[in-house]
Amino acid sequence: MSAADTTGLNFRQDYFGDPAAWAALVSLLDDTFGIDIDPLRALGGPDPTSMPFGWLTDEGVLVANLSAFAMPFILNGRLINAAGLQSGAVRPPWRGRGLYRDLTRKTLAWCEAQGFEAVILYTDKPALYENYGFRSLPLSKYVGAAPVAIGAVGSRILQPRDANDLFLIQSLLAKRKPVSETLAVTGSPAMFLINTQLDPDVRLSYLEEHKAAIAWKMPAVGHFVLVDVVAAEIPSLAAILAGLGIEATIAETLFRPDRLGWSNEAVPYEGRTRLMVRGLEDIGLDHPAMLSPMADF
Ligand SMILES: CC(C)(COP(=O)(O)OP(=O)(O)OC[C@H]1O[C@@H](n2cnc3c(N)ncnc32)[C@H](O)[C@@H]1OP(=O)(O)O)[C@@H](O)C(=O)NCCC(=O)NCCS
Repeated sequence: MSAADTTGLNFRQDYFGDPAAWAALVSLLDDTFGIDIDPLRALGGPDPTSMPFGWLTDEGVLVANLSAFAMPFILNGRLINAAGLQSGAVRPPWRGRGLYRDLTRKTLAWCEAQGFEAVILYTDKPALYENYGFRSLPLSKYVGAAPVAIGAVGSRILQPRDANDLFLIQSLLAKRKPVSETLAVTGSPAMFLINTQLDPDVRLSYLEEHKAAIAWKMPAVGHFVLVDVVAAEIPSLAAILAGLGIEATIAETLFRPDRLGWSNEAVPYEGRTRLMVRGLEDIGLDHPAMLSPMADF
């Protein structure tokens, strides 16, 4: 396999401390995916475990990037010491020169040297990663009749850009219980916080009684979608609906609802992207499940 053509480019890694290089990544991701990650600076900053790998021009334009970060998660009740890969992109004029292959190899070598037992990523191009031993995990959401709300009404909207609310969300994230035993992140605060800014339909509410942040949406009248729960103890779905003061007929959870006192039918989740895993060769999901989109990266 031929080496990448890196003529006129400079390799850098671990560059988030340099504001100009961070701005170059913000620009690359905005130009490539139309996603603005700059609000992260006001939301506690990027994940401190991030390790970006990039090729830049002499003028400081980031033309190719791939980043790794620590993303421990629970799989079938076991804590997996995993890395996540994100922000993979090459600017169009520099595509087809092997730059992404070069960055993928460098990033995976770094993950191996760090001792991560698995690497996970989301992609709409699974073929890019199959040669490196990544395989797709089938994802499922849960859908069924909404339970009868049980408990007192009492919630308020959380605004992550408000300093007090940000502090509250960060402290809940720091001691959160994984939302499911089957598949869930254990922390990933930076992902949660930036995802509050990326989907305008997701509302974030605080249930005082349960000290729980609830990410949820209501795509149609009577149709409640629970996206994530951040709390030291996960309240039941009946208590969440009561706290939010919502009357729903259909409920849906974007994770396995094994802690919610409510379980219904698993339905294949057809997202735009696939979740892929490298490592953990003999392990599959014990039950249908998905990672909450609030952990999406
Ligand atoms: C996909 C992308 C990163 C490839 O970058 P690139 O520098 O042109 O890729 P390379 O030249 O290093 O090629 C790497 C390999 O990917 C393959 N490849 C390139 N584009 C591909 C695509 N769209 N789908 C599947 N495979 C692709 C190449 O054939 C090559 O395979 P090989 O290693 O077996 O020879 C780039 O086209 C891009 O930024 N696209 C938009 C953003 C995106 O999709 N990012 C990945 C998100 S997970």
